[in-house]
Amino acid sequence: MTETQTPSSAPSRLPLVFTVAVVAVVLAFFAIAFVIASTQHVGTDEEQLTAATYMDVVQPLLAIGDAQRGETLVYQTYECYACHIIGSGAVAPSLEGVGERAATRRPPLTAAAYLYESVIYPTAYVVEGYPASMPANYPQRLSQQELADILVYLLEH
Ligand code: HEC
Repeated sequence: MTETQTPSSAPSRLPLVFTVAVVAVVLAFFAIAFVIASTQHVGTDEEQLTAATYMDVVQPLLAIGDAQRGETLVYQTYECYACHIIGSGAVAPSLEGVGERAATRRPPLTAAAYLYESVIYPTAYVVEGYPASMPANYPQRLSQQELADILVYLLEH
């Protein structure tokens, strides 16, 4: 009796092993897909950029932004001008006229999309002649309203 039971219970583990393997493969697939999707969102792949890139997020921000509040945030609260000063020896490009420059910096990105990318994904595009030293923690530090105010301020400067 015991001899006939052993062979029949041993193969019953196979489906379990098979299931675990399938689950592992599926999880690995999703992990890889997620990594690929998130790098594309950063916009590092030049070929993927269009005039619509980031605009689904940027358009609503432009609608609620206030340039006056943005100026206070840029000058005082977040001290962007600590780096973005005018003149030689500056560690970052001047923000004077940045709204206009933004329109041609990284075509086909719109000016607003480029400015958004500069603050939220600073390493996606690094301005020639400068180090990639723009702080990367603004996505955590800025509220949606603050980001909106800063974008509108930069767009007008
Ligand atoms: C520690 C120094 C530093 C601080 C502080 C800083 N930045 Fe920058 N930023 C840089 C550097 C360096 C670059 C150029 C390299 C690059 O493109 O990442 C840059 C690039 C930019 C650009 C693109 C400019 C262009 O001409 O294309 C924008 C816009 C910008 N920063 C906005 C801001 C804003 C807004 C703040 C404050 C919330 C800020 N930065 C704070 C260093 C800084």
